[in-house]
Amino acid sequence: MKTMILMAATLVLAAPLAIAGGPDDDTLTINDDIEIVTKTDAPAHLDGLDTIYSGWHFRDDGTQEMEMDDFDNPGMIFVDMARDTWATPEGAAGKSCADCHNDPESMAGVRAVYPKWSEEAGEVRTLQMQVNACRTERMGAEPWKYDAGAAINMEALLASVSRGMPVDVAIDGPAGETWARGKELYYTRYGLLELSCANCHEQNFGNYIRADHLSQGQINAFPAYRLKNAKLNGVQGRFKGCIRDTRAETFSPGSPEFVALELYVASRGNGLSVEGPSVRN
Ligand code: HEC
Ligand code: HEC
Repeated sequence: MKTMILMAATLVLAAPLAIAGGPDDDTLTINDDIEIVTKTDAPAHLDGLDTIYSGWHFRDDGTQEMEMDDFDNPGMIFVDMARDTWATPEGAAGKSCADCHNDPESMAGVRAVYPKWSEEAGEVRTLQMQVNACRTERMGAEPWKYDAGAAINMEALLASVSRGMPVDVAIDGPAGETWARGKELYYTRYGLLELSCANCHEQNFGNYIRADHLSQGQINAFPAYRLKNAKLNGVQGRFKGCIRDTRAETFSPGSPEFVALELYVASRGNGLSVEGPSVRN
């Protein structure tokens, strides 16, 4: 049985090599205004790739175009919802995000450096963890559910105001240990198919797996509005789906493993632009 599954996995990955497509040569400018770096030299720490590409390069023209204008990007509806949330007081302290942070535009650049070491908390925090810390510690409000509803909408808003800025997560200093753990997870083979993230996204990007054009699995463009499920998808929800596809038990969004993996995968995209909310199939 296992041999059969492994053979199937090998076939899935090997057979389509014949029709390998690679990334396309298009360029991405949003609203005729924000230039997005979707292709650049790989960061020095990354041995397995010479050039890094946003997942945008691997989608078909129709899907790519939806991201080029905010009126065509269904993800922007959720950004607008988050703008309302931003200004609405909530919790025991009767405060809104706006009371302490002014306009969402004051957060320009923040998305680009997360996940980030929090000196105060003594841990690496994703953006959603940081927002929840504001809610529980400063607003007296309930934390939002990870990668869902209001949390993912807020992440989309925070990403949107950083679009075009280069991803630049720190991987050394106190974040180094978490980064190393994430790297280890990235190269671990999961599930019955015994496939690591790297097997698909480093060694086979540009090839087709079934009908899907494999990207490098970068996260600079998250949250991603997927046409498949017609909603915003978070980074860690995406990790979960990919691991599940290898027929493995997976970690939960918000778990220490996925926080470490998010930091590591983010660092593989250092130099690409923040691009979220993006549109994907
Ligand atoms: C009572 C004031 C207060 C409220 C209300 C508040 N925050 Fe904060 N927030 C802070 C403080 C203080 C920091 C920490 C500044 C620092 O240490 O970087 C912070 C940090 C942040 C950061 C990280 C900024 C960075 O540079 O790393 C984000 C993102 C953030 N808040 C989002 C939100 C959102 C979204 C809301 C509403 C759901 C919110 N905050 C509500 C006070 C507040
Ligand atoms: C069996 C092959 C396979 C494995 C193993 C795999 N993925 Fe994926 N992944 C895909 C496919 C197919 C897609 C959809 C097409 C694309 O964007 O590459 C995808 C999409 C993604 C995306 C979305 C990229 C974008 O721009 O929308 C991310 C992020 C991602 N994977 C991360 C990971 C991580 C991290 C791991 C390891 C935990 C992993 N994947 C393991 C096949 C795989």
